[in-house]
Amino acid sequence: MKLTLTVNGQARSLDLDPRVTLLDALRHHLGLTGTKKGCDHGQCGACTVLVDGRRINSCLALAVSHDGDQITTIEGLGTPDAPSDLQTAFVAHDGYQCGYCTPGQIMSAEAMLSEIAEGWPSYVSQSLEANPALTDEEIAERMSGNLCRCSAYPRIREAIAAVRD
Ligand code: FES
Repeated sequence: MKLTLTVNGQARSLDLDPRVTLLDALRHHLGLTGTKKGCDHGQCGACTVLVDGRRINSCLALAVSHDGDQITTIEGLGTPDAPSDLQTAFVAHDGYQCGYCTPGQIMSAEAMLSEIAEGWPSYVSQSLEANPALTDEEIAERMSGNLCRCSAYPRIREAIAAVRD
């Protein structure tokens, strides 16, 4: 099936079996291996990418469902010479250990910051107006879809908080 994904601002034409997931299309058909496959079942968040600015688990999405959509992967956020603010903060705060979950963590945090800017409440605060500070607990709740097998959570949350502050 023919489709076009706009990945990191570049239109990419593909001819895929309709059963191919967005994750496999990115990694195996477009060579964008920054997006990781952890569980392949929607449980770990390693495969998080942005679709039209919203975070999704790309292992749960069929590529054909995203024909025409704007996809952003970790490769689209920054470069080694000019990393994004979140990438810089993750390095500065050691927000990783083995690093396998890091692309998904950063993509998820990127979307999380946009959600907060748009006023999306969390289960912890319910209302950002009532609790404008982004607490450690709130970051943990908003990032709960991203697992870190090494348990670098405190430093991941520190990195995110540093960008928000
Ligand atoms: Fe997609 Fe784990 S690989 S959620």
